[in-house]
Amino acid sequence: MSFDYQVNPDAPVDSLERKRPPIDNGAQILDPARYHSPEFMQLEWQRMWPKVWLLAGVTSDIPEAGDYFTFEIGHESILITRQDDGSVKAFYNVCPHRANRVALNTHGSVDHFTCAFHGWKFHCNGSLKAITDEETFNPSLVAHRPGLTELRCDTHAGLVFVNLDGKAPPLAEWIGLPKGYLENYRIDEMHAVRHVRTVWSANWKVGVDSFYETYHLPHIHPQTQTVMGDFSQYDLYPNGFSRMIVPLCRKSHRVADQDTVDAGLRFMMTDAGMDPDSFTGNAREVRAAVQQSKRARAQRLGLTHYEKLTDGQLTDSWATGLFPNVQIGCHPEGVFIMRFLPHPDDPKKFFYDNITMFRHVDDPTYFVPAWMGLPKDTDVTGRTRPKLEIHPEGAVTDLGEVLNQDVELVHSVGEGSRSRGFKGPIWSEQESRIRHFHRELDRYVKGEK
Ligand code: FES
Ligand SMILES: [Fe+2]
Repeated sequence: MSFDYQVNPDAPVDSLERKRPPIDNGAQILDPARYHSPEFMQLEWQRMWPKVWLLAGVTSDIPEAGDYFTFEIGHESILITRQDDGSVKAFYNVCPHRANRVALNTHGSVDHFTCAFHGWKFHCNGSLKAITDEETFNPSLVAHRPGLTELRCDTHAGLVFVNLDGKAPPLAEWIGLPKGYLENYRIDEMHAVRHVRTVWSANWKVGVDSFYETYHLPHIHPQTQTVMGDFSQYDLYPNGFSRMIVPLCRKSHRVADQDTVDAGLRFMMTDAGMDPDSFTGNAREVRAAVQQSKRARAQRLGLTHYEKLTDGQLTDSWATGLFPNVQIGCHPEGVFIMRFLPHPDDPKKFFYDNITMFRHVDDPTYFVPAWMGLPKDTDVTGRTRPKLEIHPEGAVTDLGEVLNQDVELVHSVGEGSRSRGFKGPIWSEQESRIRHFHRELDRYVKGEK
């Protein structure tokens, strides 16, 4: 019954690549009502979403004092701003006068915020700057100088988090990942180069579940078989966090021909700055060759953060689950931040939010890997923050073939989960991350956390 695939069985005990000891989360089959019932959704809104740290955005989106972005969760809009002293603060994006949203754009830079309704002004630290026609207010109404309402905010490894109820443990304790895990990728030095949001017709947890395993790859994404393994290393961390290491630059063990270097692997070599025509090895040797090539290139270009990354990290995707609703696909060149944002009041919909972060290297031999799937004219220098592209439900996006396959899949699973004939998910060891995630979710929903 056990599934113990390890991407590197020789990884030293203290290596972040080392397979974690298992956590026994039992073998229950959960009631599928959690995927569609309004009651379960309400329990999540009351007991889970306000209590956790939520990934609001990235620090590199707000490099200068006065820079801001907004983050929407449920019916809340949160305004995150860079302060004069370099710290980051978060406020409810709502005017204390009559509740208009203070920031109407998703990103921007200001000296102060001005509410568009009656022109009240607020400093970037949230305090009141001016009330229009203040003499027309009874002084007792404004004596407390109503400003923006602050909420808890903290940063980790270039990521900005907020906590709605203010009672979560300190962020550093709450992040279940070992020290250095996210920091080593230097996400703070990367820039958002694409930000896309689409509406998917299923519960947000169907989204999380689908991206938490590679068990479905041979069936839904058969085209991946020649460039990546579908047996991943699954690791569980405290507080519902988890990881899967997806080995790239090799063929799935299901492919009979493990020798021929075909188009997919040739692409991977080109992306790494290699010349596939001069490669004389077989397909099983590509992964190590790509790792060596990337290591040498990093040394040549002075990319010192590679020194903290294992060889495996240079090729593989460390798909990292941040409880409850984030997965970050970590690569040395860039990271993919996926957020599964619940619809405010429809348990059968969620927003799939995808931020592609890229580290620009100004060198003619270094270019954006094709697997990042960026449109041709994308500015990858980090000089312009791309606009948030919002696609309505059912719209076909250019996020790539694999994601389009997932959109269809998630819709189908969302519908099926509401069938009288479905008794609840039966999870294998390859789906251990999903069980780990739901187990943690239940601790909140049952009031244990
Ligand atoms: S609602 Fe903001 S100034 Fe009136
Ligand atoms: Fe998928």
